[in-house]
Amino acid sequence: MKNIRLSLVGFGVVGQGFAELIMTKHDFLKQHYGVDISLVGVANSRHGFVYRQDGLDIPTILRLATEKEPLTVYPEATYWDNALEGLQASSADVLVEVTPTNLRDAEPGMSHIREALSKGMHVVTANKGPAALAANELISLAHRHRVQLRVESTVMAGTPVISTIREGMAGAQVYAMRGILNGTTNYILSAMAEGGDYVEALADAQSKGYAETDPTADVEGYDAVAKTLILAALVFGYTLKPEQVVRKGITAMTREQIQTVHDQDKRIKLIASLRMMSDGDGKNTILEARVEPTALPLTDPLARIDGVTNALTIHSDTLHEVTIIGPGAGSIQTGQGLLADVLACVQ
Ligand SMILES: NC(=O)c1ccc[n+]([C@@H]2O[C@H](COP(=O)([O-])OP(=O)(O)OC[C@H]3O[C@@H](n4cnc5c(N)ncnc54)[C@H](OP(=O)(O)O)[C@@H]3O)[C@@H](O)[C@H]2O)c1
Repeated sequence: MKNIRLSLVGFGVVGQGFAELIMTKHDFLKQHYGVDISLVGVANSRHGFVYRQDGLDIPTILRLATEKEPLTVYPEATYWDNALEGLQASSADVLVEVTPTNLRDAEPGMSHIREALSKGMHVVTANKGPAALAANELISLAHRHRVQLRVESTVMAGTPVISTIREGMAGAQVYAMRGILNGTTNYILSAMAEGGDYVEALADAQSKGYAETDPTADVEGYDAVAKTLILAALVFGYTLKPEQVVRKGITAMTREQIQTVHDQDKRIKLIASLRMMSDGDGKNTILEARVEPTALPLTDPLARIDGVTNALTIHSDTLHEVTIIGPGAGSIQTGQGLLADVLACVQ
């Protein structure tokens, strides 16, 4: 039996979903994977970092979060004012980093991840900022310290995209991929295909919790750009900057445009794409990256993906075309991706 001690930085929707998952699956994981997982550290921005070497009681820490009590109320634990200080002073085998995504400088996640990797902890994260802006740099740092950085849940939550390509399709040469990587915009476009207009569809998505009060990151395509950058780095080995991705959101789409395409047996989807191609003089290979509304014929598997579901089609030399379809958000769904990464690190 391997004892695995985790520190969890970020204790919001995903952090709490992950804590719940490792609690409910504790015995299953012992029995089937030979790992005994304990949570030794938990941090949020309001209360700092709480740590107990022998493990925190997950129901107690979840109850404190649900009842909006300070995590520092936890009895007989050690506290630091912020997560970085806590990470520097404590020890664990794996950091699970789930603070908010920030695509400007990737903080605070970037500092948490650098600190953990530098002190020899594996890191798994759903935070898109560090993976989008610095995946290759952080992976090199992880290699230097003989640990792993895994980011499965940054793209399509727990639906296994990155591990399928990197591990399941090992040896295949991937030359392109196209995907629906943002559930909010797909929900809005699906509702518009049924006859709604943009404003109504957005309000509906917000009322169901599928869109934020400020939906800019989703509807202007920035969230899909972040995921495109992550796939560019992890699948193709290219470090692209956000401005190198051609980006167009869905805010200008009208009901008429969508209906016209619908009548031609096509569907408009916000498609994120990556494609290896020759540059102008044909001497070099470049990676073209785009996020834009695209009309797809119904024969395309992505055309029939409706609602908040995500999907990615991978084009490679040996498997021609593989499409992965599944959830792209949700606390337990994202927690599943983090759990799979934790197990991959420790095995
Ligand atoms: N939600 C999803 O379905 C989903 C899916 C895939 C990926 N993700 C990614 O997963 C991450 C977490 O998402 P979420 O929905 O759980 O967000 P959330 O509910 O806003 O939770 C974020 C958590 O991070 C904490 N935090 C912020 N700054 C911190 C700091 N400096 N030190 C320690 N903790 C800090 C917050 O503390 P307070 O509680 O004190 O505010 C909060 O507990 C994001 O990067 C998101 O993009 C989410």
